[in-house]
Amino acid sequence: MTTPGGMTAVQAVNRIEAAGHPRPQDRRLHARGAVFAGRFVPSGRLAQLTSAAHLTRETDLVVRFSNGSPQHDADDRTRGIRGMAVKFLDGEGNGVHDLVAANFRVFPSSTPEGFIELVEALAGTTETALKDKLAAGGKLAGFLFQHKESHAGIKAFVSRHAPASFATTRFDGLHAFHFADAEGRRRAFRYRLVPQLGEVDLDSGRALPRDFLLPELDRRLAGGPVSFTLVVQLGDQGDPTHDPSIAWPEQRTLLPAGEIRIERLSPDSAQWERQVFDPTRVAPGVELSDDAVLAFRPHAYSVSAERRLSADPGPAR
Ligand code: HEM
Repeated sequence: MTTPGGMTAVQAVNRIEAAGHPRPQDRRLHARGAVFAGRFVPSGRLAQLTSAAHLTRETDLVVRFSNGSPQHDADDRTRGIRGMAVKFLDGEGNGVHDLVAANFRVFPSSTPEGFIELVEALAGTTETALKDKLAAGGKLAGFLFQHKESHAGIKAFVSRHAPASFATTRFDGLHAFHFADAEGRRRAFRYRLVPQLGEVDLDSGRALPRDFLLPELDRRLAGGPVSFTLVVQLGDQGDPTHDPSIAWPEQRTLLPAGEIRIERLSPDSAQWERQVFDPTRVAPGVELSDDAVLAFRPHAYSVSAERRLSADPGPAR
C-alpha cells in the first residue's frame, strides 16, 4: 500500500527504525509491553446499533499495555505515549476484533507522512522532556510550523505528566468507525477506554524504577481486577470520519458499551506478544471509515511484525 503522498509501509517502517533504533526482535514502536487476560461485560446499550455479537455478550479478551517508545528500556517516568490494545476472543481463543488505543485525545497528524515526520522530530526525547525539546526549536519546531493540524493534539499532550499507572490512564482509539445493525443501518462512532479508577498522573517519579508501569499493574491485580469502561462516542451527521486529527465536539452522545475487566497477567503473554493487534481487525457489525491513516496502519504493523518475528534476538540484554 502506498499513501496518496507516495510513501510505502516499508519506507515508513525504515524511517521509524532509523529514528528509533529498536532491537530487531521488538515492535518498531511500543516495544516494551505485556499481555493481560480478562473479560468483556457488555452494558446492553449497543444492541440497537450493531449486530456484532462480541460487543453484546460476555467474552474473553486479552489486553496488551505498552510504552510507545521503540526502545525496550524506555523510561516510564517521562511523559510520552502509552498504549492499550485489546483483542476480543471467540470461544476457541482466536481474535475476532482488536481495539488499538493510545493516551492521546486527538492524533497529532492527518496523514501517515505527518506521523512519521513527528516520530523523526521526537526521536531521542525519551530522556528529555518534550517541553524542553519544544523550547529548543530544531526539528520539532519545524514540524509544528509545517503542520498546523497537529497543534491541538500536541498542546493537549504536553500539558500532562506521565501516567502513574496503566490502570489510571485513559486511552482513545482516535479513528472513526461505523456500527452496522442487522438492517444495514450505519452510525459513525469513535471509542475510548476510560479507567474506572479515574485518571491519575505521576506526581514525581524520582523514587520509581524506569520500567515501573508493568510491574505496578501486575501487583495491583493481585488485589483484584482492574476495569475500564469501553465508551463509544456517536458521531452526528456531517462529523468528519476521515481525519483522526479532528476531534468531534465533546457534547456528542457518549454510550458506555461495557466493562473491560482485566484479571491477571496472561499465562500466554509471551505467545500473545508475538501477535499483531490490528486496528482494522473488526467483526461483522462494525465497519472501517474513510480514514487513510487507519487504512495505512495494518500495512506498517505487518512490516514491523515480519521483521521482529524473523529476527534472531541475539544474546539477552
Ligand atoms: C500512520 C500511523 C501509524 C503508524 C505508521 C504506526 C506504526 C506502528 C508500528 C510499526 C507498530 C508496531 C506493530 C507491531 O510490531 O506489532 C505500532 C504499534 C502500536 N501503535 Fe501505531 N502507528 C500509527 C498510528 C497509531 C495510532 C493512531 C494509534 C492510537 C490510536 C497507535 C497506537 C499503537 C499501539 C497501542 C501500538 C502497540 C500495539 C500492540 O500492543 O501490539 N498507532 N504502531
